[in-house]
Amino acid sequence: MQEPDCTPVWLMRQAGRYMEEYRALRQRHTFVEMCKTPEIAAQVTLQPVLRFDLDAAIIFSDILLPLEAMGAALQFDDAGGPVVERPIRSAADVEALRPIDPGCDLSYLLDAIRAARSALSGRIPLIGFAGGPFTLAAYLIEGGASKHYQMTKAFMYAQPAAFRLLMEKLTDLCAASLNAQIEAGAQAVQVFDSWVGVLGAADYAEYVMDHSTRLFASIDRSVPSIHFGVGTFHLLPLMGRAGGDVIGVDWRVPIDMAWEAIGRDRPIQGNLDPAVLLGPPARLEQQVQEIVRRAGTGGGHIFNLGHGVLPETQPEAVEVLVRQVHEYGRAA
Ligand code: CP3
Repeated sequence: MQEPDCTPVWLMRQAGRYMEEYRALRQRHTFVEMCKTPEIAAQVTLQPVLRFDLDAAIIFSDILLPLEAMGAALQFDDAGGPVVERPIRSAADVEALRPIDPGCDLSYLLDAIRAARSALSGRIPLIGFAGGPFTLAAYLIEGGASKHYQMTKAFMYAQPAAFRLLMEKLTDLCAASLNAQIEAGAQAVQVFDSWVGVLGAADYAEYVMDHSTRLFASIDRSVPSIHFGVGTFHLLPLMGRAGGDVIGVDWRVPIDMAWEAIGRDRPIQGNLDPAVLLGPPARLEQQVQEIVRRAGTGGGHIFNLGHGVLPETQPEAVEVLVRQVHEYGRAA
């Protein structure tokens, strides 16, 4: 692998509503149409890359879309985000979930990856992704966004065998999707196990870790994998053991402390609070400097936000961020 001459940077949700170019397309199409039309998905993937000096692109799609092929009825409403029409309530609901055939069920995603690779023509790598099994299970059980994930936890505690089967099916889905994306041309993959941080370490070890371990062991080793979650400081040693060539962390803990918890021999990704992009430029610059100082410029750090770009963000702030990471992150 090549060592970059400065800290590389890309941003989760780097394509999205904060960009005028995105909103213009979004006026004419629903979010799902955009994801499922390969030319549009590839075009949106490139929007932030054409505007900012980013070091990676991430394919435009959503972690929940593959659930449809398993038999979950999904709706993305214009206001409040995704809704699963018949949330999972029983072992029978879990048993009814079908395995997918990525070549056929995810052809829109694989075609979008091929089109995006061709449009990028080798300039920067393209990242593929999937939702982690716990995060997908939480959506299927809650039926949508949740604050406390109490239905997910209640299901997990009350019906451990059904929960285990659900996690197994979702692990298979995630592995099949990522390997198909790699075959289609994804040059790295990120597992968004975004909400796993709502579990205590003991519950993570009991209910999630085996599945995540199997997932990372099933991913094609020819490209690097990134294992990401929000609010996971207490889980980092376990998540690291489960797998991932790179561990993605949020902003709640200084990046050097998170890195100690993971082990310095493993690359880390993160960890600017996306809300800092909404504040004054001086604060942004100070935070970028602080993260780069704590992570050092000796390699092994991929700069990112701790979570996705917020829709209220000014594109100019992203431009400043990318420039400053490259400037302060120049290898000594
Ligand atoms: O990072 C990227 O740019 C790649 C594309 C991507 C999207 N969602 C696009 C999107 C990725 C990797 C995701 C991940 C995702 N999606 C997660 C993981 C954690 C996270 O929040 O990042 C989750 C839980 C989802 C499910 C989802 N999709 C929610 C909760 C929402 C509604 C909230 C919101 O931000 O609108 C979506 C919709 C969504 N996914 C949009 C985008 C650009 C907005 C769609 C629109 O234009 O209306």
